[in-house]
Amino acid sequence: MRPFHHRSAAGLLLACLAVVGCETQYGPERSYGLRKDPVIKNGQKMAEERPLPDRPGQLPIASIKDLTEQEDKDHPFYRADPAKRKEFLQQDLVRDVNMIAASDRKILEETLEKLFGKPRDPKVAVTDKDCNVDEESAKYLQVEPATLARGSVLYREHCLHCHGVTGDGRGPTGKWVNPHPRDFRSGLFKFTTVNRVEKATLKASRGDLARTLRQGVEGTAMPSFGLLTEQQIQDLVSYVMHLSIRGETEIRTVLGAFDAAKMEMVDEDGLEEYVNKASRSVVKAWKDSQATANWIPIPAMAFDPNDVANKVKLQESVQRGKKLFEDKKTNCNGCHVNYGRQAPYKADDWGTLSRPRNLTQGIFRGGRRDSDLYARIHSGIVGSGMNNFGKDLKSDEIWDLVNFVRVLPYPEMRKNMEIEIPE
Ligand code: HEC
Ligand code: HEC
Repeated sequence: MRPFHHRSAAGLLLACLAVVGCETQYGPERSYGLRKDPVIKNGQKMAEERPLPDRPGQLPIASIKDLTEQEDKDHPFYRADPAKRKEFLQQDLVRDVNMIAASDRKILEETLEKLFGKPRDPKVAVTDKDCNVDEESAKYLQVEPATLARGSVLYREHCLHCHGVTGDGRGPTGKWVNPHPRDFRSGLFKFTTVNRVEKATLKASRGDLARTLRQGVEGTAMPSFGLLTEQQIQDLVSYVMHLSIRGETEIRTVLGAFDAAKMEMVDEDGLEEYVNKASRSVVKAWKDSQATANWIPIPAMAFDPNDVANKVKLQESVQRGKKLFEDKKTNCNGCHVNYGRQAPYKADDWGTLSRPRNLTQGIFRGGRRDSDLYARIHSGIVGSGMNNFGKDLKSDEIWDLVNFVRVLPYPEMRKNMEIEIPE
């Protein structure tokens, strides 16, 4: 019996090694490649075409009606109605990267690989002394090759099936969940504490991404990775930044270096230089996002809402918050119609139909601490269509809204705070 056991174990091991999934690392020849899917310039307008949210198994844009004439028949964009496709291109709502000449595509791919490496040997080798993006920055951003190599292995294990090899949000399971996994290439992150009221170009702090990883995104398929070690979380954060910087560099080049109608090069300095330029400005935005001076200032609430002695103060604050919520000045109720219970579908920047949150359910994707909600209202929820209020509202007013939003889901608490909403 024993030899038989040995043989079957060895056979199993061999079979396992033959299957890619058993490996934790990518093969050395595997590259990120160029994107094939169209760059969506105006997701909100694109999605107007779509009466219904994405069905399971369907990605944004994929519901545009079918077309047959293109090579890649499986690609959602090419299955679109040819007239529609032409119209989208003419209105410059979308850029078709496949229209770029093969020679330019080659330069683009090679330059991106020079800067960002391959999945097995990822890097952010953006160098430029003028804007202080150099080795020092790689250290500052924590995107050195050794960190990224560890992050890449972890990413493949834990994230890839949803977020995809390039971070396009199109991993094999990605299209079956809605909201879809984030497409990191757009460089848009929803749940952040960077002060977008002051600087709209800010991305996310490392702390923001780490919080998302530890807690997951409540009410969505994004799981919590709270059982990973702190080192692993940090390595993953670095790798997400790498994918995002790479993807956004590519997008900015596609949008900036080529004309809309024919996707011919329009930048005079040459494509390679354009890619380098784009990469520097993306890295700069990520650097800026790590500076504490660019984070949302969150002053303490005027009183401790958890102290029962402050019940009357809290009541007054919640009541002011309710008023503000319904006020024309904020128009919260304009999107969160009937406190979100009857919110209409709206398009987000990825071209997906989504809804302003039903705030009577008490599900907060970006975290449920007071400070999380403060940050959402102050700087908005990027890409989702929720604008920011940090300019129009005083910090006390934002705290009033936070207090109201926290009470809203719970009938007993509403009674306690002496506010009423229609059933
Ligand atoms: C089961 C699918 C799934 C897996 C696995 C998954 N994610 Fe996500 N992730 C999502 C979804 C869905 C969202 C979008 C939630 C939303 O839009 O509100 C998301 C969003 C994110 C965001 C964006 C947060 C923001 O502020 O916009 C980050 C960063 C992220 N995931 C990182 C990761 C990393 C890193 C891993 C692996 C350790 C991972 N995810 C694994 C589904 C997944
Ligand atoms: C222009 C439309 C719009 C307006 C105005 C708006 N919101 Fe939102 N809000 C949204 C959308 C869309 C989401 C869902 C975002 C997402 O995809 O995660 C949202 C989500 C939220 C969330 C959930 C945050 C989380 O972590 O899940 C809160 C809280 C919120 N809004 C409060 C407010 C308050 C308070 C106001 C007024 C000061 C307001 N909103 C005004 C569109 C809007």
